[in-house]
Amino acid sequence: MAANGANEALGKAHVPYGSDGSGLYSAATLGCFRVIQEAKPMILDALSELPLKFYQGCVRIADYGTADGGTSMPLLGDLIDTIKRNHPSTEVEVSYEDQPTNDFKSLFFFVQGLKAIENVEPYLKRHSGVFVTASGTGFYEQCFPSNSIHLGMSFTAMHWLRRKPCNITTGLHMTQAEGNELAAFAKQAEEVSEAGHACTNEGALSGSS
Ligand SMILES: C[S@@+](CC[C@H](N)C(=O)[O-])C[C@H]1O[C@@H](n2cnc3c(N)ncnc32)[C@H](O)[C@@H]1O
Repeated sequence: MAANGANEALGKAHVPYGSDGSGLYSAATLGCFRVIQEAKPMILDALSELPLKFYQGCVRIADYGTADGGTSMPLLGDLIDTIKRNHPSTEVEVSYEDQPTNDFKSLFFFVQGLKAIENVEPYLKRHSGVFVTASGTGFYEQCFPSNSIHLGMSFTAMHWLRRKPCNITTGLHMTQAEGNELAAFAKQAEEVSEAGHACTNEGALSGSS
């Protein structure tokens, strides 16, 4: 679990599910494996449009809001298989990103094959020239050097807003907001898309807490 005070410092941000190194998030989250699997054709399409030959021999892929990394491992394996099939000497860097309180220990256990996920072979075991790094900077701030990521993705993290515009009295999730409350969420979304990435990281979900 996160160190005392760390979650408050992040503004009631998402707290990792299960203790450090337990891999409980992936073990208990079949739905998120399916979401990512559904997105596979879209991501493979995006990969096929990358001008790999201009990347000086290394493709950098980022997974933002990755949790313990288990749920995106099958997709990342497929992406790396595709890159290596077409460009065997190209190296790949997978850059995982999440909040400082994230269970990065489980992530490295999974990726290095020290902890198993059923029916998923760790991609590091089947290819050389693949490197794994992690950023514990929340995705409302710049997480990686400018122009360093070639392909970025993020799954099931869109409900973690930078701040809560108001309490929701008609439910818990922003999709359940109505009237003025819904308008407050819509207004914030508009402001965010106009302001680009400059922001704070209050990590609010919604609801009344
Ligand atoms: C529901 S989990 C999804 C995990 C994984 N992407 C998946 O699809 O299985 C949401 C993740 O978003 C992360 N998250 C929430 N707010 C974040 C922020 N501001 N910056 C980075 N990650 C954030 C949480 O820590 C959590 O790991």
